[in-house]
Amino acid sequence: MSLKTLSSQMLPAIESELQKQVARLSQPRTAVYYEMLTYHMGWTGEGAGPEATGKRIRPLMVLLCAAASGGDWQAALPAAAAVELVHNFSLVHDDIQDNSDKRRGRPTLWTKWGMPQAINAGDGLFVLSNLAVTDLAENYPADLALRTARVLHETCLDLTRGQHMDIAYEDRLDLDEEDYWPMITGKTAALLAGCCQMGAILGGAAPVAEKAYHDFGLALGLAFQMQDDILGIWGDEALTGKSAASDLLEGKKSLPVLYGLGKNGPFAARWKSGPITPAEVQVVAQTLAEEGASDYAQEKSKEWTEKALTSLAAANPQGQAGAAMRELADKLLGRQA
Ligand code: IPE
Ligand code: IPE
Ligand code: MG
Ligand code: MG
Repeated sequence: MSLKTLSSQMLPAIESELQKQVARLSQPRTAVYYEMLTYHMGWTGEGAGPEATGKRIRPLMVLLCAAASGGDWQAALPAAAAVELVHNFSLVHDDIQDNSDKRRGRPTLWTKWGMPQAINAGDGLFVLSNLAVTDLAENYPADLALRTARVLHETCLDLTRGQHMDIAYEDRLDLDEEDYWPMITGKTAALLAGCCQMGAILGGAAPVAEKAYHDFGLALGLAFQMQDDILGIWGDEALTGKSAASDLLEGKKSLPVLYGLGKNGPFAARWKSGPITPAEVQVVAQTLAEEGASDYAQEKSKEWTEKALTSLAAANPQGQAGAAMRELADKLLGRQA
């Protein structure tokens, strides 16, 4: 109930702040550039609407952590927009890097406008995020705004390191679960941790609580990526809005795949004999499930969600926002999209 109430107030506010930030690039000579950005954000073009915007989990986390720390969430909106812009910049580039043709149920930016222009649009979103976070100085003392900006920029570095590992791992067979954690910590969990920490800073949390919020976001981010890994192999494309074949086709070392390699059974034998082809994807996914990889990843995701909830309790969140975050963590564990 608290999640529904709070998100019904926060999500529209996030959307208008994002629109305001992206409007910096609404300029007459480059109307197509702006169109690319508004298309990717889910606001324009065929299929525009709530399905096409994505879940907006990260900005929601910023605002919930700010509110739960006793702050005014509305003042934190520029930070919420900044993290969602970072996320979207990373998705535009990620879809090129992963050769993905579908995102949020629609053709990806690069398949519509080509790679060179999609790279540029991703760069634009990244710079917009940096500008959005500087707007915090209008609502907060400069030192607080600067500290928040630093957290964001450091998570961006972590994100690029994670992406580097994710891509480098595609061609490697000598990897196991130990190699997985730093990769997903960088590519996904660091940003979730950053969101929670930024919200806590802006909400006026004490240092111990700030750390607990960070740890909550980090653990939740790990659990979140494990769910993404499961959906990336066994998800329903109509619900996820992205391909359920590309992780296997691209040779991604997701947790289920590393688990299967560790088992050294029929899945590992097939994997080691060369790249999976589109015709085989379904049967390979089934073999992997039969070896227990999906159950294993689900179990691990549950473990990390529990750790997240322990950190959240340590942060001692106030009011409805705390309950909303607990609800959100549970909901993410069973998500289909
Ligand atoms: C997808 O993130 C990429 C990952 C880091 C796993 P989301 O599942 O949050 O994507 P949207 O924004 O809701 O589409
Ligand atoms: C998620 O990458 C992390 C970033 C985009 C930085 P993935 O490649 O695992 O996510 P999806 O499945 O394409 O959304
Ligand atoms: Mg990727
Ligand atoms: Mg991807």
